[in-house]
Amino acid sequence: MNIKDIIRKKRDGYELSKDEIEFFAFSAADESVPDYQISALLMAIYLNGMTDKEMLELTDAMARSGDTADLSGISGIKADKHSTGGVGDKTTLIVAPIVSSCGVKIAKMSGRGLGHTGGTVDKLESIPGFRTSLSTEEFTGIADKCGLCIAGQSGRLCPADKKLYALRDATETVESLPLIASSIMSKKLAGGADCIVLDVKCGSGAFMKTVDSARELADKMVKIGRGAGKKIAALITDMDSPLGNCIGNSLEVWEAVQTLKGNGSDDLTELCIILSAKILELAGFGSNGECRKAARSAIESGSALKKLAESVELQGGNPDYIYNPDLLSKAAYKYEIVAKESGFIGHMDALKVGSSCSMLGAGRQKKEDSIDFGAGIVLNRKTGDRVKKGEIIAVMYSSDEALFEDAVLQFEESVTISDSKPAEKPILLEIIE
Ligand code: URA
Repeated sequence: MNIKDIIRKKRDGYELSKDEIEFFAFSAADESVPDYQISALLMAIYLNGMTDKEMLELTDAMARSGDTADLSGISGIKADKHSTGGVGDKTTLIVAPIVSSCGVKIAKMSGRGLGHTGGTVDKLESIPGFRTSLSTEEFTGIADKCGLCIAGQSGRLCPADKKLYALRDATETVESLPLIASSIMSKKLAGGADCIVLDVKCGSGAFMKTVDSARELADKMVKIGRGAGKKIAALITDMDSPLGNCIGNSLEVWEAVQTLKGNGSDDLTELCIILSAKILELAGFGSNGECRKAARSAIESGSALKKLAESVELQGGNPDYIYNPDLLSKAAYKYEIVAKESGFIGHMDALKVGSSCSMLGAGRQKKEDSIDFGAGIVLNRKTGDRVKKGEIIAVMYSSDEALFEDAVLQFEESVTISDSKPAEKPILLEIIE
């Protein structure tokens, strides 16, 4: 089979065969085709889309491109959650210890930052010593022992997605429904969990900008999961403004810990309770109301925080950073953004805030780039808040002072000040089950 023929076929808008799709996924996984040809095909898929048949075949081929996780050695119910990606989305760091402390085991593979969005693996690596690259035995061993293990896509699980994910990030081919659905669901199928909750983000900071497109993505992923015999639900949640108050890797770990201590912002805490309750409900822990109560009491009792610290220690990290998150690094330089006029924050465009954060060094421009774990943005004001001229809206952190200029301009473009308070939006927009 010839990769140039496959690129041409997709470029010209034709449907690829099962064999061609498998060739694409497998040669991305074993790197037998150069990055530039894989990237060209990604762009052709981005521009011309895929039929449902192609998308199912791509998901299946990616899931089979390496090993599949055998979680049978982990006792009890295993659950997984996955977000389609947002700005300030640190929910995995909160939801996973909540449900794990309630008795559902989480053995989960997470990703790095993608486009303007952050990734759980990058966030966790901002905890000194924390290892996300684990052998299969370590992964299942830790999950069985403590009930919580989050690893990167190391080893042989879904190597096709590992490659495609990094190339999509570097080639602006992320926002494609079939590429997102196959990327997420191949990992979920190879990941082996019994119950899956998908957090499909919708709005300016999400890859899906409208509820209709988020619903389409959610529907397709739920169908793929159900077809594979999983208990699965998708929540469509708002990502028009950043989630919580911190954006950037170690800042988000800090905020996740504050939330587990009961000091989180309302939007972030509520979303984490909703996601946790849905996982517990799918796992058979009672009605949604009962599961919400269980999730809340995991925060109030401190058991979820203890669970996070335990798993951090088992993965080589220092649990002191969880009990005392002020130890986490903040970049050396800071810049305060002040309001140029008085009024209400009418809109804070999450995409622009995410890009601004990436410009500070918190994200990658090329797939080989290293990231500045301490870089990021702390929001003092968010959409709907009143602000007076001269008040600080946000504080930016970076290890390179030269990066502030462009990042500040980008951030300032994200904020609109209006005379009246904008209508409040719920965090949960829809549930697809
Ligand atoms: N998360 C993933 O794992 N893949 C995507 O394509 C988008 C979000």
